[in-house]
Amino acid sequence: MTTTQPSPTAAGSGSSATEAFRAARSTASGPSGVAPERVSAVLTSLLAGIHETIRSEEVTYDEFQAAKQFLIEVGEGGEWPLLLDVFVEHVVEDVASRTQSCTKGSILGPYYLPGQARLESPATLPQRPDEQGTVLVFSGQVRDTGGNPLPGAEVDIWQADEQGYYSGFAPHLPEGNLRGVVVTDSAGRFEIRTIEPAPYQIPTDGPTGKMIEAAGWHPWRPAHLHLLVSAPGMRTITTQLYFRGGEWLDSDVATATKPELILDPADAGDGTHTVEYDFVLERP
Ligand code: DHB
Ligand code: FE
Repeated sequence: MTTTQPSPTAAGSGSSATEAFRAARSTASGPSGVAPERVSAVLTSLLAGIHETIRSEEVTYDEFQAAKQFLIEVGEGGEWPLLLDVFVEHVVEDVASRTQSCTKGSILGPYYLPGQARLESPATLPQRPDEQGTVLVFSGQVRDTGGNPLPGAEVDIWQADEQGYYSGFAPHLPEGNLRGVVVTDSAGRFEIRTIEPAPYQIPTDGPTGKMIEAAGWHPWRPAHLHLLVSAPGMRTITTQLYFRGGEWLDSDVATATKPELILDPADAGDGTHTVEYDFVLERP
């Protein structure tokens, strides 16, 4: 066991998020070229929004230069994935969800890492021998929209630890900690033994954190589990699950909570929490 626990810095997690994003992009399948007409339409609309803000708020030269400096620092700190996932992704998800009739989705966020340990259900997520936190046994079933169970579906799960840190982005945590791909059994069921995560705080020492502070906002997300649920031939669900009564549920800095995504774990009598949640996948 390590005795020193350097706390993750914004620069550390920010630039790791940029690296993770680049790695995922380079293996992404499908066309990445966007038609010029589409680029022009989106850019025109985006710039019109910025121009209108400058006019209505009567933005000064001083404020314009401060904004430029901030954007330069976001890039230098590698924080673009953090910034965009906190303030913009939820609307992209909202638009994508217009054509979905499966389990509600939520944002992916910047901390997904592919290629984690594949575990048969029932599974215990990889964790330190002295992992802190309330034990959570999270189980459920993956089905299609017709109610048929989906054996061999994958529940790819990742989460913060009891201090709100993600492995792969906080140097003191072992690789793969509290991450795993759990495969459903012959009845489409899964059972995952883990711990309840703590709320997550945007790193306060980087440009995103400083901007939040300058605006007088708070930097917190409520405690959450991240999930990618997939099965062959089905549309993959990207979502998050939250905890009833959790702090920051009503003021998530990333605006990514939904009432359908809130778990209500029960105490099994020994301090262990248990909860069931089912996922419904649809065809593309
Ligand atoms: C961010 C972090 C998260 O854990 C998350 O779920 C969403 C966004 C972020 O720092 O951008
Ligand atoms: Fe998260």
